[in-house]
Amino acid sequence: MENLKITIGRLTLKNPLIAASGTFGYGEEMARLCDLSGLGAIVTKTITLEPREGNPPPRIVETPAGMLNSIGLENKGLKDFMFNKVKFLEKIDARIIVSIAGGSMAEFQTLAETVSGLRCVAAIELNLSCPNVIHTLQSSRYQLIAQDRKATAAVVRAVRKKTRLTLITKLTPNVTDITDIGKAAEDAGSDALSAINTILGLSIDIRTGKPRLGRIVGGLSGPAIKPVALRCVWQLSRAVKIPIIGSGGIMTGSDALEFIIAGCRAVQIGTAHFIDPEASSKILDEIKTFLRKNRIRDIMSLVGTLAGKGD
Ligand code: SIN
Repeated sequence: MENLKITIGRLTLKNPLIAASGTFGYGEEMARLCDLSGLGAIVTKTITLEPREGNPPPRIVETPAGMLNSIGLENKGLKDFMFNKVKFLEKIDARIIVSIAGGSMAEFQTLAETVSGLRCVAAIELNLSCPNVIHTLQSSRYQLIAQDRKATAAVVRAVRKKTRLTLITKLTPNVTDITDIGKAAEDAGSDALSAINTILGLSIDIRTGKPRLGRIVGGLSGPAIKPVALRCVWQLSRAVKIPIIGSGGIMTGSDALEFIIAGCRAVQIGTAHFIDPEASSKILDEIKTFLRKNRIRDIMSLVGTLAGKGD
């Protein structure tokens, strides 16, 4: 039997497959459509302190080899999460990573401290990289917090003080040098990096001359972004010592293996779940077959084995 177990900070997963935030809700609806037991972990849809309505519709558009979304962090807030979502999350076998986003340092800290008190929560993912909202922090407005090394470090440092859980920082590819932001998060106390969030894009209907998304621009995901994501995680793997969780267009087992070879200890499956809710189970089977065929006993022995060095 091949060993698929991996660790990220204090978090141990039975396999490296994680359902990406925003593609799996809070688990309950997806449990009606697929078997959750194949997943190592689930990242919840990002929660904020107060409910958010999200952006004006339309909020999702299909593009060649991808999908644009401009959801805008719609969610029912922390109280609803505590009273209505946790009950189901407590019952499932996969580990739970809660994605949080704050409009201020105090909000980030309250969210982190509160969810850290829940028995079923194994880790926190800091969503500093949603391209569909304006980020605010200490009276500054940022296009994205994860585009600014100082703001990223400040949030990680503040949240680190409030939780002993494994802290994962989700990065954006919409920057000149992702390693600069990754290093800032590592130095501030993040246990792992998650990369990449979506790439800012635009789609236009030429018949009306209007944008297809209500907010005009949105985040591109799916196979179209896989080469960019692979480049980002490879660069990060050479720049930081903490584990990297890769995401961006993973649809098959061989896609997931590319990310692992590029330097990721785990991978997140996102857009694939919109096409096939069972995508993760199929990807896991394909990974197992590859390991068996190639007599690889431990998935960890593949991490960061990309041949060739680059500059
Ligand atoms: C959204 O809610 O707009 C998507 C989440 C994200 O991109 O982080």
